[in-house]
Amino acid sequence: MRVCVVGSGGREHALAHVLGHHHDVVVAPGNPGIPGSVDMPPSEIDADLFVIGPEAPLVDGLADRLRAAGQLVFGPGADGARLEGSKAWMKEVLVEAGVSTAAHGTFSDEAAALAFLDTMDGLFVVKTDGLAAGKGVVVTTDRAEAVDAVRSYLSGDAFGDAGRTLVIEEGLTGPELSVLAICDGHDAVALAPAQDFKRLGDGDAGPNTGGMGAYSPVPLATSATVNDLMDTAVRPTLAALRARGIDYRGVLYCGLMYTPTGPRVLEYNVRFGDPETQVVLPRLTSDLGVLLAAAATGDLAGRADQPTFDDGAAVTVVCASENYPTAPRTGDPIQGLADASAIDGVSVFAAGVGDRDGCLVTTGGRVLTVTGQGPTVSEARRRAYEAVSVISWPGMQYRTDIAADPTR
Ligand code: AMP
Ligand code: GLY
Repeated sequence: MRVCVVGSGGREHALAHVLGHHHDVVVAPGNPGIPGSVDMPPSEIDADLFVIGPEAPLVDGLADRLRAAGQLVFGPGADGARLEGSKAWMKEVLVEAGVSTAAHGTFSDEAAALAFLDTMDGLFVVKTDGLAAGKGVVVTTDRAEAVDAVRSYLSGDAFGDAGRTLVIEEGLTGPELSVLAICDGHDAVALAPAQDFKRLGDGDAGPNTGGMGAYSPVPLATSATVNDLMDTAVRPTLAALRARGIDYRGVLYCGLMYTPTGPRVLEYNVRFGDPETQVVLPRLTSDLGVLLAAAATGDLAGRADQPTFDDGAAVTVVCASENYPTAPRTGDPIQGLADASAIDGVSVFAAGVGDRDGCLVTTGGRVLTVTGQGPTVSEARRRAYEAVSVISWPGMQYRTDIAADPTR
C-alpha cells in the first residue's frame, strides 16, 4: 500500500517511520528531517490511504475534501473534528454520552464567567473554546491569574476568536494518562497507553506546553482500566456522535486524569498525541497501515486483527528551542543528530526542523523528539537521554525527569 501522512512534525515522522515497516510512505509536506517528505498538497498525491496528523486540517475539513475526491482517509471529517475545535461542544457531547468529566460552564460574558469562578474552590481551570496550539489552558490556584485569563481570552487579546468563548472547569488532581483509540465510526480499539509530561520544567514546573516527553507502558493503566474506558467513554461517545449523524473514523485521543474518586476524561483530541505517538507506535508489532485502513473503511472487526505491542518500553524526550513555548528562538544549526540516531534502540523524530545550505536548523519550538526503546522503562530512558546528550544547538532545552518515576 502507498500511504500519505499529512503533517510536518515529530508525530508525523513517527507515523511514517512505523507505517514504513510494511508500506511505501510519503509525508506531505513533512520537513527536511523526515525521509519521504514531499512539498505538495495532499490532493495532488497518489496514495491508497491518507493519514491526517494535525488537528487544524481536520477541523478545516481536509478529510471531507479528500473523501469527496474518492480517497480512503484515516481522520474525522470537520463535523467530528469539532470535538477538538470547540471545547464547549466537546463537553456537551461528553455530558450527553454520560462520560465522567470535570464539572464546567461555558461563557462569552465576563461578568458571568467571573461569577462562576467564585463558585470554584482552590484550583481554577480556564480554557479557550477554540484551537490555541495546546496553549489555551490555564490551571492555577491564583484567582488573579484566572481572572486575567478570563479577561484576555474574552477580549480576543490572547488568542483572537478562539478565546471569545471559554470554558471554566472544576480543577481535578491526579496522574494523567493518554489513550489513543482507533475508531471506525461504530467501534474502536485502544493502543497501548502512554503518559505525557505537559509542563515545561522538571518537577512539572512552568507553563503548559504541547508535551515535553512521554513514556509507555504506564503501570497505572491496567488492561481493565483501558477496557473500562472503552466501554464507559469511547463507545458511548461514538454512539452520541452517530446519533448526531457523525461517522467518526480516526483517532479519538482520550486525556484522562486519575482523580481520588476514579478516572475522569479531561479532554478529547481528534488526532494522535504528540509526543505520545513517538512512544506508542514504536512498540507496535502488528501492521499499522492495515489497522488504519480498516478503520478508514469502517470495518475494524472485519479487516484488522487487534493491535499488538512488544513487552518492552519506550521513553521520548522533547528537545525544544530556547524560549519555548512563548517565543521560540529559531535558525540555529542542529549538531549531533546522526550520532544520536546511531545509538542502539534510539529513533530521533524531527519536528521543528528546516534546511539551510544543506544543514538542519531549528524552525520551531519543539524541534526533535528522541525516543529510546528497551526491555524496561529505565533502560529505554537511559538510551533516550544518552542520545539527547549528544544533540545540541544554542539554547536547546529539555526536561531531565521524563519517566524518572514511572509510577507517578
Ligand atoms: P487540555 O488541553 O484540556 O488537555 O488541557 C491541557 C492540560 O491542562 C491537561 O493535560 C491537564 O494537565 C491540565 N488540565 C486540563 N483540564 C484540567 C482540569 N479540569 N483540572 C486540572 N488540570 C486540568
Ligand atoms: N501531548 C498532548 C497532545 O498531543 O495534545
